[in-house]
Amino acid sequence: MTLEEITKWYQDQGWNLEDKGSEFLITKGEFIKHLSKKPIFRSEVILQLSRGEKWKAFIEVGASPGGLAEGLLPDCGQLIYVAVERVPHLKFYGLFLRTDCYDKKLGMQRKPIAFMRMDTAEAAYLIAPGAADGVMIDAQHNYTDVVADIKMWRLKVKKGGCLFGHDYNPWGVKNASGVAYAVDEAFYEINLFLEPSGNCVWWLRL
Ligand SMILES: C[S@@+](CC[C@H](N)C(=O)[O-])C[C@H]1O[C@@H](n2cnc3c(N)ncnc32)[C@H](O)[C@@H]1O
Repeated sequence: MTLEEITKWYQDQGWNLEDKGSEFLITKGEFIKHLSKKPIFRSEVILQLSRGEKWKAFIEVGASPGGLAEGLLPDCGQLIYVAVERVPHLKFYGLFLRTDCYDKKLGMQRKPIAFMRMDTAEAAYLIAPGAADGVMIDAQHNYTDVVADIKMWRLKVKKGGCLFGHDYNPWGVKNASGVAYAVDEAFYEINLFLEPSGNCVWWLRL
């Protein structure tokens, strides 16, 4: 969908739209959404926040085949990156062996990265509350699983940190809108930031 189609969709659903220059402010009752006009990559959003706020740890839930990691790892400095993934793609293993994650001088991996090859619920059980500055939820995309992931993983984000997810598209058909329903339901009182390109990233501050 184009930005015009998306804004028209919101208007048709009875939302108020205000043009704020770089974004649309979209409101209905207590709901406030910020819809960016500019398409941005997920990794860019995360890198900007991470650098500006000197994040220490970031967890990606549902990490293979590594689209986000590919954008994040070469540029994230010493940010601890934890991947939670139960069915890793071969390409995903390759990412961890790339030279941009490897310090030739030290002869060792220079990025602190960890791979938890397990189910999202098992990993959430092992990680302490408030352990991460940011968590990206991108495992199953149906309503029920996203509700469960939000419930488990929001607790792992430290106060003031950010929760992210992929494929927020309430304008999608059938199951495609499960992510948006789950997110809206869990965070109706929190400012939600949306990126309208093919990525459809959502994020918010906890
Ligand atoms: C949409 S893909 C993730 C894409 C990835 N974030 C990227 O940027 O390339 C979803 C991934 O979540 C994993 N996944 C699905 N359900 C899961 C679960 N319950 N626990 C762990 N991983 C899961 C799948 O194996 C799949 O690789």
